[in-house]
Amino acid sequence: MTLLPMPAEEDFVTHFPLKSYLATLKNPNVRAASGMSADQLLQAQRYQFVTILGRSSVENFETILDHLLAWDLLNWEEYETVKLSRHLFSSSRNLLDVIICKGTRACELFIVVLKNIFHSSQLSGLLLMNYNPPEETDKSTATSLASQTLQKRRPDLVRKLHGRTAAVLALLHGCGHFSKYECDEIQLPIYTPSQQARKLLDLTKGKGDDAAHVLLEYIESEPGPIKLVLDNACIKYQEKLSSTLAAQSRFLTNYAGTENMCLEDVYVNCILEITNTTSESGCLRSLIGLEDIFGPDGVLNKDADVVLIIGEAGSGKSTSLQQMQQLWATKQAFQEFTFVFAFSCRRLNFIDTEVSLRMLLFEHCCWPDDHQDEVFQYILDHPEEIMFMLDGFDELKFQFTDEERHCSPTKPTTALNLIFNLLQGNLMKSTKKVMTSRPSAVTAMLRKYLQKEITLKGFSREGIEAFIKKCHSNTSNAEHILYFVEANSAVHGLCHVPFFCWIVSNCHEQLMQNSGDFTQTMTDIYLLILDHFLLHFTHNSQGVNEILQSQIATILHLSKLAMDGLISCNYVFSAAHLQEAQISKEDISLGFLVHSHSFSRAWTANKNKNYEFLHITIQCFFAALYITISDNVGESTLYSLFKSREKGTSSCMMSAACIESFPFSCLQSNVEPERRRKTMLQEAEKSNLQITANFVSGLLSGRHRNLIQKFSGIPKQSKKYKLVKNYLAKGIEKHFLSIPPAVGEEKKSMHALPEFVWWIKCIYEMQDNDLAKQAVSNLEVDHLKLTYCGIGPVECTALAYVLKHLKNPMGLQLDYNSVGDIGIEQLLPCLINCQSIYLRANNISDRGASKLVDQALGCCNLQKIALFHNNLTDASAQNFAKLLKHKKNFIALRLGNNHLTAAGAKILAEGLKQNNSIQFLGLWGNKVGDAGASAIAAALENNTSLLWLSLVGNNIGSEGARALALMLKKNTILEELCLQENNLIDEDIEHFIEGLQNNSSLKVLKLSNNKITKKGMEFIVTALKHNTTITSIWLGRNQMTAMEIEEMTRAERRLTF
Ligand SMILES: Nc1ncnc2c1ncn2[C@@H]1O[C@H](COP(=O)(O)OP(=O)(O)OP(=O)(O)O)[C@@H](O)[C@H]1O
Ligand SMILES: [Mg+2]
Repeated sequence: MTLLPMPAEEDFVTHFPLKSYLATLKNPNVRAASGMSADQLLQAQRYQFVTILGRSSVENFETILDHLLAWDLLNWEEYETVKLSRHLFSSSRNLLDVIICKGTRACELFIVVLKNIFHSSQLSGLLLMNYNPPEETDKSTATSLASQTLQKRRPDLVRKLHGRTAAVLALLHGCGHFSKYECDEIQLPIYTPSQQARKLLDLTKGKGDDAAHVLLEYIESEPGPIKLVLDNACIKYQEKLSSTLAAQSRFLTNYAGTENMCLEDVYVNCILEITNTTSESGCLRSLIGLEDIFGPDGVLNKDADVVLIIGEAGSGKSTSLQQMQQLWATKQAFQEFTFVFAFSCRRLNFIDTEVSLRMLLFEHCCWPDDHQDEVFQYILDHPEEIMFMLDGFDELKFQFTDEERHCSPTKPTTALNLIFNLLQGNLMKSTKKVMTSRPSAVTAMLRKYLQKEITLKGFSREGIEAFIKKCHSNTSNAEHILYFVEANSAVHGLCHVPFFCWIVSNCHEQLMQNSGDFTQTMTDIYLLILDHFLLHFTHNSQGVNEILQSQIATILHLSKLAMDGLISCNYVFSAAHLQEAQISKEDISLGFLVHSHSFSRAWTANKNKNYEFLHITIQCFFAALYITISDNVGESTLYSLFKSREKGTSSCMMSAACIESFPFSCLQSNVEPERRRKTMLQEAEKSNLQITANFVSGLLSGRHRNLIQKFSGIPKQSKKYKLVKNYLAKGIEKHFLSIPPAVGEEKKSMHALPEFVWWIKCIYEMQDNDLAKQAVSNLEVDHLKLTYCGIGPVECTALAYVLKHLKNPMGLQLDYNSVGDIGIEQLLPCLINCQSIYLRANNISDRGASKLVDQALGCCNLQKIALFHNNLTDASAQNFAKLLKHKKNFIALRLGNNHLTAAGAKILAEGLKQNNSIQFLGLWGNKVGDAGASAIAAALENNTSLLWLSLVGNNIGSEGARALALMLKKNTILEELCLQENNLIDEDIEHFIEGLQNNSSLKVLKLSNNKITKKGMEFIVTALKHNTTITSIWLGRNQMTAMEIEEMTRAERRLTF
């Protein structure tokens, strides 16, 4: 992952204490009196300037440079140096240095330029004065040479040349000023139209006055760049594209077989999460809405323009893109884009002839009825107005590569190569691309070209409720289903995945008949949908088993088609495929296969006869049915399905040769199918194979074995069951064996690989307690780390099912997943075996915390809880106070970066008073303020256990400081007190000094980022002369100069800056 260099520490200017200075400036009277010059303003707000420029676009930055060149504020050497830097943040820093060195007037003009280019809302965080622009020189009297005029009028010329470089180059080439090579070089599609215009200006200037004359004359004689006729053609095309997309996205395709469901009627917002590396508090994650995905948050690579939405199967990726299409086409959002082109990667696999970008857009997306050339030229000239949507990147037949460069928008190549070059920006640089994928297909090579990654995490608890209510207009029905779902925690966990929620909502009748206890696994849910469709189809009231048996031929046909598709990475089936798999019209009408919609002209000609399973996971389910019921499937196929792919390729990595030598039709023959299947399984798409393996485990489970046996008629399943059980036990064992032994005194810790979670899920699907016991019998670690492993409620259920059998308790680290309140409920059964549980950044609210605490009270092993960066409020304080009061062996509570205020802190302090085991208490980044800090301080006066207390960033001022200092006088145990990022001043330090005089336990006091000046420092230096316990006092980023810092460091080595 490329991380952008952010505004650095040196951007905070030490001799202009920024916060207090700006605070003074915010008062208009003081501001007027302050009379700061422009260069002083620039220096004092350097950090903000760097942030605004660095987060802006390359285009904005280059436009600023155009103005600075035109006003002679930059010479060519400076211009090149500033532009050279790879990242906008470093370029911005360089630019500020150059401008500040040039004095006050240069800084004034720089501010004038910024105000011209940025919208006032973007500059709202800055304090800026008004300055006059440079005086205009009268054009008629100007005597400058044509080449100088190019520079003086640079911003205006860049605008006028936008989209017209081809015409000007043709002219200059015709007059002999430019070679063919130079013309091609300027027009390389990696440059945006404005960059092409700048290149043209720069080269023309170098060619001398004659060439410059030709260019200027052309500009004077030509009208504006967009002709009326083109406008009309574009508007017409836009209308056609909107109505096409509106129609395409109106209905949810997977409902086609049984009902027609309008997206608008059922759409519910999913959880979308970004990682914000630019946050002041480090790498934090936050939630965003679908309409904000192109916003500035979470940008990792400014030079790239691909926004990737990743999510597990059925989490709602395709639906989210469909919603975006609908919002654009119905003019509800994304109106900054003139054209939106949407592609399904699954269907792109089907384009087997070479195509150019133009063909891809016009023939496979939407055809412009007239003025095709002009429309296409408009698209090329206005990349920033174009959005591409690419759904299901994991479904492409080949893995991403950047080896074959293709820059021409009109030259044909393979569709995949076009897509790969679009993503890299070799084609249509500066267009916005939004792409979805399952996580396993995202390789390091692809990550180089991603602007940001957004994780789609399915429905929240409220989302599940909203969805069920939308699906059932009868309120009492909806309430009834909801009540049932919430009462069955495994089902509730599954509903977090929208596709599962849809099944549950659809099959509620069977579900309730079966009673909740029976429905616990993913396989149970998919068997429900199978029943549901069959019942719907046969319209009779036979028992489920009877119906399944009567439809066995259909199920076999569908499952064979699914299996053959799975191993050849094929998710769209032509009429020929269906015929070969003996799929009849009746089979289709069952509802599992739906039309593969496409607006491609080529496909329309083919009468749209292609089909796909209503969801890929349904295809995986049918493939699993094939594996379990078909007598053709032997040991080696099963082995290939369950073998570890940790080191293998992540997405479908078939080589062309492999696909050609095993065409789909070949799979239908009986020639050594087992051997061929085994070979192809090794190449097939990992994530779908893993889902299929989950279903195979489920179908072979004791609960479903009878049913499967009835299908196949042969009692072979017990052999398959034994084989699979063996693979799973061995797989887990191998994983454990790979854990390195603990070093010295350290705890033995295991960072689970993603496959660990998959194996655990397979074991859960099997619902075999013996296997679960066996799986963890050899797990001898003190700490199991599962950070960033995509763990949601479904995974929590499986984890708890297996970990509850652990022999020895251990630490469970689940930081940076999406456990949520529902996941917490799932984890409760295994809490008994946890010494510590770490749940940083997991979207947990008071509800989840309350369940966790209730369970923790009965778990004698559990001693540490970390809930940093969740959504906890004061409502949780009562629970934690209860935990502190009753749990006499509790050691660590970390609640940093939540929403606790003084009220919460006071309640917590009550618990603290009654506890003498807690050693670590973290409240960083809450809002406890003076009152909260005072309550905690009072609670700690006689405490005999707490070693470490963090109240960083809690808005604490003098009152809180005094209480904490008083506490230090009496407390005899606290070793480290963290008070960075508060409002402490010199007088507060005096109190601390007093406190420290009587204290003989505190070793580290952290006071960085407060408002302490040299005077406060001097108090500390004097006090430290009589204190030998303190080992270090942190004082960085307070209000003192570099010289003062040096002086103090010399006087007292224990001060850390
Ligand atoms: N936001 C949503 N609102 C309502 N229903 C949704 C939503 N997202 C998903 N669904 C339901 O779940 C089904 C599956 O979702 P979708 O096809 O978008 O998953 P996906 O993430 O694209 O899966 P895959 O990885 O297999 O492509 C949808 O057809 C719809 O029924
Ligand atoms: Mg999808």
